Amino acid sequence: MPEDTAELEARLEEQDAFEPPESFVEQANVSDESIYEEFEQNWPQCWEQAADLLDWDAEYDTVLDDSNPPFYEWFTGGELNASANCLDRHLDERGDEAAIEWVGEPVDEENRTYTYEELHREVNEFAAALRDMGVGEDDVVTMYMPMIPELPVAMLACARIGAPHSVVFAGFSADALATRMNAADSQFLVTCDGYYRRGDPLDHLSKANEGLGGVEHDVEATVVVERLREGDDHGHDLADGQHAYADLVADHEGEEVEPVSRDAEDMLFLMYTSGTTGKPKGVKHTTGGYLAWTAWTSQAVLDVKPDDTYFCSADIGWITGHSYIVYGPLALGTTSMMYEGTPDHPDRDRLWEIVDEYDATQLYTAPTAIRAFMKWGTEYPERHDLSSLRLLGTVGEPINPRAWKWYYKHIGNEDCPIVDTWWQTETGGMMVTTLPGVKTMKPGSAGPPLPGVDARVVDTEGNEVAAGDAGYLTVNKPWPGMLRTLYKNDERFIDEYWAEYSDTESDDMDDWVYFPEDGAKIDDNGYITVLGRVDDVLNVSGHRLGTMEIESAIVGVEGVAEAAVVGGSHEVTGEAVYAYVITEEGYDEDEEMRERIVEGVDSAIGPIARPEEVIFTPELPKTRSGKIMRRLLEDIANDEELGDTSTLRNPDVVSDIQQKVSGD
Ligand code: WTA
Repeated sequence: MPEDTAELEARLEEQDAFEPPESFVEQANVSDESIYEEFEQNWPQCWEQAADLLDWDAEYDTVLDDSNPPFYEWFTGGELNASANCLDRHLDERGDEAAIEWVGEPVDEENRTYTYEELHREVNEFAAALRDMGVGEDDVVTMYMPMIPELPVAMLACARIGAPHSVVFAGFSADALATRMNAADSQFLVTCDGYYRRGDPLDHLSKANEGLGGVEHDVEATVVVERLREGDDHGHDLADGQHAYADLVADHEGEEVEPVSRDAEDMLFLMYTSGTTGKPKGVKHTTGGYLAWTAWTSQAVLDVKPDDTYFCSADIGWITGHSYIVYGPLALGTTSMMYEGTPDHPDRDRLWEIVDEYDATQLYTAPTAIRAFMKWGTEYPERHDLSSLRLLGTVGEPINPRAWKWYYKHIGNEDCPIVDTWWQTETGGMMVTTLPGVKTMKPGSAGPPLPGVDARVVDTEGNEVAAGDAGYLTVNKPWPGMLRTLYKNDERFIDEYWAEYSDTESDDMDDWVYFPEDGAKIDDNGYITVLGRVDDVLNVSGHRLGTMEIESAIVGVEGVAEAAVVGGSHEVTGEAVYAYVITEEGYDEDEEMRERIVEGVDSAIGPIARPEEVIFTPELPKTRSGKIMRRLLEDIANDEELGDTSTLRNPDVVSDIQQKVSGD
């Protein structure tokens, strides 16, 4: 270890609290602590402050309608359009400023800048094209696209005409696409021919076409963006009903589409996320509350200002990209960066090169990336001037203090506050984190709930736990960015998020408590440390994956009798997928079987869900009632002392499995 790192580690290791840098505080969007008190006193009217960041076509009458919990409504009576809020209203003052700075993965790529004017034009043209193809208000348009600028264009074009979008992560499989299109009854798809990964052109359209083959209803139209450069394309011919994006936009050149006034409570988009059953949940977000929430948190937490060049390295296929690459930053009229590729191509300094070249002012990324940067070493950030950075952020999983301190020192030069932001697909935006110009930072702890957010740590009865004790995170008051329901499934919405801690017979808001299914603890100052999921959901590299989804993919492989999936801890990805598999009679527990299992997971979900370890076992540890004891399997995966095995029907199996894992 080089000397300065050793010294630094020694110095920083001691320190468990950090004050926001003075230079930051002086210019912060929020720098007065009184906001906490003020929001508490003035709840829910405090959220007018968020709504005021938007332009409304019709003013709302009521901030919160809580007459029918948990089906809350925010800014009722208000009307607005999300695309007009992200584009049109910035044209006068910021028309020539960059809205999106896009960096392609190939280093010899012609990167693209979209000014607000240009983005507005293309969104209008594509909106006109979508309308022409028959997309009407409230028709769900699915997007299966990587990090190319046409993705935000398509999202905003849909928003313009009041058609909700449902973006499916490009790394998901064909099956995953079909499942999501079927669930949303979506009749339109926007996709692309391919994209670049670590220097190679990847074929995407074959996967999209295969997915379309699994859609159970008629698909009216598919739009294909031609992303691949000449020579790299895979020679696809577009089928009937498939349109080239460039032709559509050219056919509608210069056309303008009047933004549709949407009710504040009208759906802006759907986002499918993993839950405890094999079936993904369609999280429904609305136009007014969601946009107000993402704009307000972008301003208060990410400290976004119009002149910034703000860089979030997430993928728009996940909620972080929706809220904090597209809607929040563009609503505030800033410049949002988009990078197509991976941080290690062509070398491990790619992100730092981008920060340097574009003078990025904020960087918002995931702990898994930070742990990888740490492993690669300081030589990569040291190659570049990162002094343009003013604030750093993390999201998606807990960050360990060591990684936090590394980020603070080697990326932020001890000059940038770090916001460790806890939130979920369902919350729409940030919920628990420090206000960077106000609060002391404590590495490893996300921080207090944001002003106006009532998050608590409770025991199984719902009573608040003592400082230092572990419990469950709950949110005891509604907030504007919250999901409104699970698409066409109000019952599951209540079961999954409310039933645990609410009196579901009551129509009093105070009897309703939102349960995010995370474990947490809280300290004397009200700082919350999120410990991780308490349901059967894994967090691999900040991506949510249901163990049931992976298990059903594995059981679908020929020769597999039974499977149990748990998370084992992993140095870089946080958690890794461990699959315990029982084969059917007559099938060998060999490399070929292992490969088929991995392929099965790839094709049912996608490479992100691939098992790190496949452990063959003749039996799974089960209780007398036949329930798989996952906790024991987790202990084995993590090489930890085993919990209680006395309730097992088959206690011997545990030591057999243990031997197999350690022998691997
Ligand atoms: C986890 C991503 C600890 C948590 C925005 C949550 C975190 C799940 C943090 C949501 C954090 C997110 N500290 N854990 N700062 N942020 N999580 O829906 O378990 O993909 O429930 O949303 O990620 O994942 P999702």
